[in-house]
Amino acid sequence: MNKLLSISLLFLLSWSMPAISSSSRVPCYKSIFSFGDSFTDTGNNPIVFEWYSIFDPVTRPPYGTSFFGLHTGRNGDGRLIIDFIAENLGLPYVPANLAHNGSFRSGANFAVGAATTVDAGFFHERGIPSTTSKFPLNTSLGVQLEWFESMKPSLCRTARECKKFFGTSLFFVGEFGVNDYHMSFQRRTVQEVRSFVPVVVATISKAIERLITKHGARNLVVPGVIPSGCSPPILTKFADVSPASAYDSRTGCLKAYNELGLHHNSLLQAELDKLQAKHRNVRIIYADFFGPIMDMVESPHKFGFEEDILIVCCGGPGRYRLNSTVPCGDAAATMCQDPSARLYWDGVHLTEAANRHIANIWLGSINSATRVSSSKCANGPCRPSG
Ligand SMILES: *[C@@H]1O[C@H](CO)[C@@H](O)[C@H](O)[C@H]1NC(C)=O
Ligand SMILES: *[C@@H]1O[C@H](CO)[C@@H](O)[C@H](O)[C@H]1NC(C)=O
Ligand SMILES: *[C@@H]1O[C@H](CO)[C@@H](O)[C@H](O)[C@H]1NC(C)=O
Repeated sequence: MNKLLSISLLFLLSWSMPAISSSSRVPCYKSIFSFGDSFTDTGNNPIVFEWYSIFDPVTRPPYGTSFFGLHTGRNGDGRLIIDFIAENLGLPYVPANLAHNGSFRSGANFAVGAATTVDAGFFHERGIPSTTSKFPLNTSLGVQLEWFESMKPSLCRTARECKKFFGTSLFFVGEFGVNDYHMSFQRRTVQEVRSFVPVVVATISKAIERLITKHGARNLVVPGVIPSGCSPPILTKFADVSPASAYDSRTGCLKAYNELGLHHNSLLQAELDKLQAKHRNVRIIYADFFGPIMDMVESPHKFGFEEDILIVCCGGPGRYRLNSTVPCGDAAATMCQDPSARLYWDGVHLTEAANRHIANIWLGSINSATRVSSSKCANGPCRPSG
């Protein structure tokens, strides 16, 4: 297994949206605490990869080129979905817990690129992705929760104080699942990987339950997974072994891998419904990651994207411009002329333009769910209980 390809299959990061900072709008969420993988990671992965002596291309240009102007550890050309959401809620970009030297009172981001939902041991026992691979790293959802719990005493002390503090926080649990599945595809058929879905969903559910009952989380956003069958690393890896019938002729996506994502999302939503019924004073918001990406794949022009939508912006030679020997960040890699006209940035990760679109959709759910519970707040259910 080519190491760089396996890394590009694993990297998952984050997102964004423009600030609405009219003084009449009071930010009612006072902080954001976030768990996830590279779709959400705002700077942890360079640190974690260094612990394991793994090369991390995101520390090189042109990462960050569209917005920050320099690399920030984000897996993208600019802002991630979570960055746009923080802007919209009037909060600072959520600082990566391992990278930031300062206060976390406005929030902390425990997400790490390549993180799995399920603990690393599950995969190691099964020889996934291989017995010699350093992946998965010890950065699962459970480990991120431990990091959160060790930070907690610096944020609040008494149970009452903590309940109040986290009651005005917005929690992101995910995206989780893509690394579990993409890594497993290296050693298992898509049918075999399907049997892991209940384990992944149960792990997410347990984490949500713990955040609610042990820490007083009252507002949680839980994203589903992407359509992996439209993801350039999956398309590249399985190009030679997939017959024409494996593709959706309309989109060029691999059907079986998308079906797995739909299965995950449907089990996840059923689980969230159960949790919501059990915890009536809490808001659990499902965030659809799959649908908005399919919309962009199906109607690129509607979003200002170029025709060949499954091609990455930054990479090397190849059908999808994703090449394990010439990854984005490599001196020989090339970048497209206009990242804002592309859906995919460097492989699995999306461009800032795509992230902005997805953030707008998620903010619709976050803000509308909020209005139901609070008329006083422009965004976020500010319910400073006593
Ligand atoms: C963290 O910040 C403090 C105060 O600004 C500084 O004294 C300290 O050296 C910093 N630590 C690191 C590891 O950068
Ligand atoms: C993984 O990380 C957690 C949290 O930092 C730690 O408690 C645990 O011992 C680590 N596990 C392994 C196998 O290194
Ligand atoms: C990947 O890039 C290398 C170096 O430019 C090239 O030789 C190879 O053919 C490329 N692979 C594919 C699948 O195009």
